[in-house]
Amino acid sequence: MSRKYLTQAWCVLLVTGISLSCMAQKTIPSYHQEIESLMSKMSVEDKIGQLIQENGDQGHDGSIKAGQVGSVLNVVNPQAIHRMQQLAVDSSELGIPLIFARDVIHGFKTIFPIPLGMAASFNPDLVQQSAAIAAEEAASVGVRWTFSPMVDVSRDPRWGRVAETFGEDPYLHARMGTAMVRGYQGEKLSDKTSIAACAKHFAAYGAAIGGRDYNTVELPENVLRDVYLPPFKACVDAGIASFMPSFNEINGVPSSGSAFLLDQVLQKEWGFNGVVVSDWESVIQLQTHGFTDSEKESAYQSFMAGTHMEMNSKAYANKLRELINEGRISMEKLDDAVRRILRMKFELGLFDDPYTHTADFPPMLNDHNKALAKAVATESIVLLKNEKNILPLTGFKGKIAVVGPLADSPHDQLGTWIFDGDKADAITPLTSLRDLFGSKNVNYAAGMAFSRSLDKDLFPEAIEAAKNSDVILVFIGEESILSGESHCRADLGLPGIQEEFIRQLAETGKPMVAVVMAGRPLTFESVFDTFDAVLYTWHLGTMAGPAIADIVSGKVSPSGKLPITFPRHVGQVPIYYSYKNSGKPASDATWERLYEIPPEAPQLSIGNTNHYLDYGFEPWFPFGFGLSYSTFEYSDINIQDPEVSMGDSIVISAHLKNTGSVKATEVVQLYVRDLVGSRTRPVRELKGFQRITLEAGERKKVVFRIHTSELGFHNLDMEYVTEPGAFKAWIGGSSGADLGIDFSVN
Ligand code: GLC
Repeated sequence: MSRKYLTQAWCVLLVTGISLSCMAQKTIPSYHQEIESLMSKMSVEDKIGQLIQENGDQGHDGSIKAGQVGSVLNVVNPQAIHRMQQLAVDSSELGIPLIFARDVIHGFKTIFPIPLGMAASFNPDLVQQSAAIAAEEAASVGVRWTFSPMVDVSRDPRWGRVAETFGEDPYLHARMGTAMVRGYQGEKLSDKTSIAACAKHFAAYGAAIGGRDYNTVELPENVLRDVYLPPFKACVDAGIASFMPSFNEINGVPSSGSAFLLDQVLQKEWGFNGVVVSDWESVIQLQTHGFTDSEKESAYQSFMAGTHMEMNSKAYANKLRELINEGRISMEKLDDAVRRILRMKFELGLFDDPYTHTADFPPMLNDHNKALAKAVATESIVLLKNEKNILPLTGFKGKIAVVGPLADSPHDQLGTWIFDGDKADAITPLTSLRDLFGSKNVNYAAGMAFSRSLDKDLFPEAIEAAKNSDVILVFIGEESILSGESHCRADLGLPGIQEEFIRQLAETGKPMVAVVMAGRPLTFESVFDTFDAVLYTWHLGTMAGPAIADIVSGKVSPSGKLPITFPRHVGQVPIYYSYKNSGKPASDATWERLYEIPPEAPQLSIGNTNHYLDYGFEPWFPFGFGLSYSTFEYSDINIQDPEVSMGDSIVISAHLKNTGSVKATEVVQLYVRDLVGSRTRPVRELKGFQRITLEAGERKKVVFRIHTSELGFHNLDMEYVTEPGAFKAWIGGSSGADLGIDFSVN
């Protein structure tokens, strides 16, 4: 049936629908009439066709014309998209448009910092704007669905995909994930610059044993519900259009076949009415997991659990018809999946206009987009050390040695999960520092060809550059390929011979600033003392150079805070700030005593607390930590009512003063502890943060308002409850905040 007939049919139905709905007085799903009208014309084959997502632009023409493709991923050429869409709309029986999808994870053409870097900005508003730009650029070529945000809490930096997360904290993940949902989906999905978002990977993908990708996850349900599910629930509440189950199993059940996750939690408890798309061939991987014994059973388990669309593999195409004929899958279940997919297409406006008019969009990578990318990058930079205030190099007139394998690496600064960003557009730190200080004042030498190099041949040139300079900026860390899917590391140290390189630079005796680019926390305490200052810059994207130059020059004071705990040694992992106290908590006294213990020390002579003999119990840098070019003082913490009634709000405040000499921004953080619970509670949990910018000397009262319902957890009956009792709150510049106040909930 041609589209124009369908349009006429719908006009009649629409009028009828409007009159009926006025009488019906009950809320009906959007486009209900149009969907039901179309469904009434669809055969079983047509319906199954909507559940199939194909990859790329080759070899699918026949299937598209036969109405056997619902979505296509990884096509971004506007002409190819137009051609395939025209086939679907004009050559297939029902003319149902395709939805084109792509991993737009931290930018499309204009690349923003990796999500772990964006998390360090603690600026959801800016992250929302970055997602809106990514959506506009992707939509301009015809992509209307992204598989983002990834809201997998991760407490294991060995995991390659920690780079794609917003770190270790559920609250920060929820704030950042929902910001991206709003950015991608805009006011209305039907806006031409909006794209459907996708919460992934549901769930607990970041809890894989050993930090190894795809590995087994074993979690008690209360931990799953208290730590790993909240960011996903927040995305549902933000109106996200789709979900993607994770590759991993949880307690023996792979997520793509998990009725607990996809039906019980997502549908029944959360009322999600969008689309669940599998991960890449995760449907047929149910057999690899040993959860099913055939493609047919994988199709059955996955579909019945609640995976509506299959990405790339063909279990649904091959076996759903058979399962329906056998009565194992009902038409009602099939229709529910098809309705969800059609609704997403209607809401995106694809039935009104399935084509993209690229000329209607602003050019990609325009000045506005680059300016925002620079702003996000600048706010993502974390200052870990700044002795003798060597930074900023404001008005610096001497010679600067710019050395290291990542000083001029446009590919690596873009970070992982980049498909449409182009290194040719990336502005490197070397370029920006030359612009800033003048090329004649910058002595550049890579020193190493790339971060994993084991070759010292390039050292001499770099050492010479250092000797001929007044300060060294050394760019170290990881190439982008060391982050991302399945790119896990058992060792978090600096790859290659970077430490040797650093030591030789240090022998020149010149002041040295380290600029670290990485997709995860790295452990380099052994050379940390050689640096006078350290900037942790993640992989900052297209505008890494200008952002780093603005920070180095002092144009902007660093304001980033760590979204993930930095261990001193990989052996401490998992290590995170919201740990449980245990019955024998460690303390400073139980710190690094491995070499103090006398030979044949009596068994009970060195204390029995929760620590390591060699690495104590504290991290290298705690969650929420980050320095500034200024200093800040916290005082006068106050709670409006120290005895809060259950169901009321709690108003907690403190004064913040910029006690330094420059304007600067501080991320003020609120942590709370439930001191006693029917299950033990973490020693601290982040419950709020605000970016506060103050002029030198300026003082401001910072107020947080939280509700008692935000202090809950899942009890022994698996009910979400806030229990009355004693609580403590802290306000400060990191999870180590020591300005605290007691209160009770009654
Ligand atoms: C990958 C990833 C997922 C991505 C999908 C499509 O394997 O796990 O995050 O969206 O395939 O590229």
